[in-house]
Amino acid sequence: MSEKDKKVYLETYGCQMNLADSEVVLSLLNDEGYTLTDDISTADVILVNTCSVREHAEKRIYGRLGEFKSLKNKKPEIIVGVLGCMAERLREKLTTEKAKGVGQEVDLIIGPDEYRKLPELMMQAWHGDRGIAVQLSRIETYDDINPLRTNGISAWLSVMRGCDKFCSFCVVPFTRGRERSRPLASIVQEVETLSSRGFKEITLLGQNVNSYQSKESDFADLLGTVANVDSTIRIRFVTSHPQDMSDKLIKAIAEHKNICKYIHLPFQSGSDRILNLMNRNYDRKHYLNLVHKIKSLIPDVSLTTDIITGFPAETEEDHRQTLEVMKEVQFDGSFMFKYSPRENTPSYKMADDVPDEIKIRRINEIIETQTKISLTKNSSHIGKTLEVLVEGESKKSTSEWQGRTDGNKMVIFPIGKFLVGTYINVIIERANSATLFGFLTHSNTQTAEKAA
Ligand code: 5AD
Ligand code: SF4
Repeated sequence: MSEKDKKVYLETYGCQMNLADSEVVLSLLNDEGYTLTDDISTADVILVNTCSVREHAEKRIYGRLGEFKSLKNKKPEIIVGVLGCMAERLREKLTTEKAKGVGQEVDLIIGPDEYRKLPELMMQAWHGDRGIAVQLSRIETYDDINPLRTNGISAWLSVMRGCDKFCSFCVVPFTRGRERSRPLASIVQEVETLSSRGFKEITLLGQNVNSYQSKESDFADLLGTVANVDSTIRIRFVTSHPQDMSDKLIKAIAEHKNICKYIHLPFQSGSDRILNLMNRNYDRKHYLNLVHKIKSLIPDVSLTTDIITGFPAETEEDHRQTLEVMKEVQFDGSFMFKYSPRENTPSYKMADDVPDEIKIRRINEIIETQTKISLTKNSSHIGKTLEVLVEGESKKSTSEWQGRTDGNKMVIFPIGKFLVGTYINVIIERANSATLFGFLTHSNTQTAEKAA
């Protein structure tokens, strides 16, 4: 069989940026004529797009590499490739003999800015040479590549790459390199294509999406321009940094009906002392003022956040201040993490001095606080009619479907005569901390029947 008849399987870990990058990788391989497969047992090439943000993520991937190794034992001609942040961070570990049986099995190591070389390095690997490409770029944005999207309703769209913030705990500036933004015109063109293909939700992605800057256009300009392309498409964006959340941006969100009233705004810690050690470049007062401004300009906004507990030198008082900020802001949801020291980051040099049992207790208190707030927030929707974008069958039941509100809340409702990708009105009748449950309004049933 020729190389091109071989089947490629790709598994993705980590953030949405990685999901978007995987679509770029699949597009490159598809254009080269490779066959893509979801079935690992038939694969000739196994690729894993990896995450380095916490130790736990890397451990999982090492576990997977061990499993790929046993597949390779049975079928030695299989090629295994590591893509993304771990490739960048661990290139030496993955290639030296010290890698204890895992490294030797890796045939390709490709960092986030080198995916264009993948087809060439795969060819090299067939001929027995290990392929390594881990150069970071100041210009690569893959903006001429049309990502291979399999879901026809919701699309990730990467608008900037890299991060210049250098939070002291974070590997991203080292694994993904410097910030660079795609030209506005190329983004608009992609949105137009997605609109003509019937997409209904686009999430603009960037490690620091709101520091987007291309020529004269900032993120507020980009958001407004993209929203005007097709008013039936919902526009979302992640992740915003509190330092770059301008008034102009908040106003742009408030003014466009199809820009979702949903902002993911990590605060990380409620303590100024810890925020300073984290090199976050804002304090608690700045963050709370920002939230106040957002809530007054966008009254029905949904806010979510990221929190790290157990950062070096974090005291009970610092922890209490984090809980206080959570209670004051009343986030709709939080992504909550125990601090994980990452080699070569500035905070790696600080003693990881919060014992694990204390990190566990603190994270449990944070989770418990968030669960209560989420339940209260979700319950406040009971009795309301919310517009929901239909995503398809519910993951838990075939007689129910699921969709999302503008505020990104998952809604479950009985199956009916409507299509995936349409907007329907759902009356919310109950809620838990994660999900809203409802039934369809009479007007939906009529529209759906007319359409049917
Ligand atoms: N330990 C724990 N959490 C981390 N994050 C980033 N680096 C670390 C780390 N070393 C979290 C931050 C960030 C999110 C994507 O991951 O909260 O916002
Ligand atoms: Fe990491 Fe901070 Fe950059 Fe986010 S802003 S990617 S947490 S360095």
